Amino acid sequence: MRVDVYPTVLNIPPAEDLAGRVAVVIDVLRATTTICTALANGADTVVPILTPEEAFQVAADNPDRMFLLGGERKAVLIPGFNYGNSPLEYTEARVKGRPILFTTTNGTRAIRRAAGADRVYIACLLNAPAVARELARLEQDVAICCAGTHDQFSLEDTACAGAILHFLAAAGAPVETNDMGVVARDLFREYDGRLGDLVHLSEHGQRLAKLGLQEDLLFCAQLGTLTILPVFTEGQVVLPD
Ligand code: MLT
Repeated sequence: MRVDVYPTVLNIPPAEDLAGRVAVVIDVLRATTTICTALANGADTVVPILTPEEAFQVAADNPDRMFLLGGERKAVLIPGFNYGNSPLEYTEARVKGRPILFTTTNGTRAIRRAAGADRVYIACLLNAPAVARELARLEQDVAICCAGTHDQFSLEDTACAGAILHFLAAAGAPVETNDMGVVARDLFREYDGRLGDLVHLSEHGQRLAKLGLQEDLLFCAQLGTLTILPVFTEGQVVLPD
């Protein structure tokens, strides 16, 4: 099986190149970590939305759905939204049974761009080993789509892509990858056991730390704490039955 890694939203192949492949979308800091956490805590669905205006419109058009609004711009809460982009905000008490409209700077764009794949998984370090096991089971070619940060390569997303390649190899899957995949796998192996250091070293990690969000960094750096496999289908991220 072939597993290619794409480092930023801009590198995500067009729909026609994703057709026939499985996509895995990663934004460790913090969009996909937050989406996975919200779903693990019982959120009904997370709808990736491109702009805050679109989120307000969808909520206004569907008052019966009682959507929560979540996400960030410049890493902080959007005025009028319920929650920001910290996974720690998405507790069971707040999200269980609720649908969430979610918009972030990089992560939700990446998810929407990957929509042309046969199946789109949402991954972060928390569920990376589980996603790798699922990919090994599917034996289909894979496009790992990192969100990156502001269309630039990011350490934390690349390391997560590398974790998936590492665990695929551990599962005995014979994998061919691209040059980015080799770099990603080596990066993960270099930092395995000290992913907190890598997340703190990253540019976006440093930005979040300056905003006082160190707890988010520690949370997002955890490896393999979840076994859920969220999929993006028909415009929303859900946990399949
Ligand atoms: C994003 O999607 O751009 C990030 O999740 C930003 C953030 O950390 O809030």
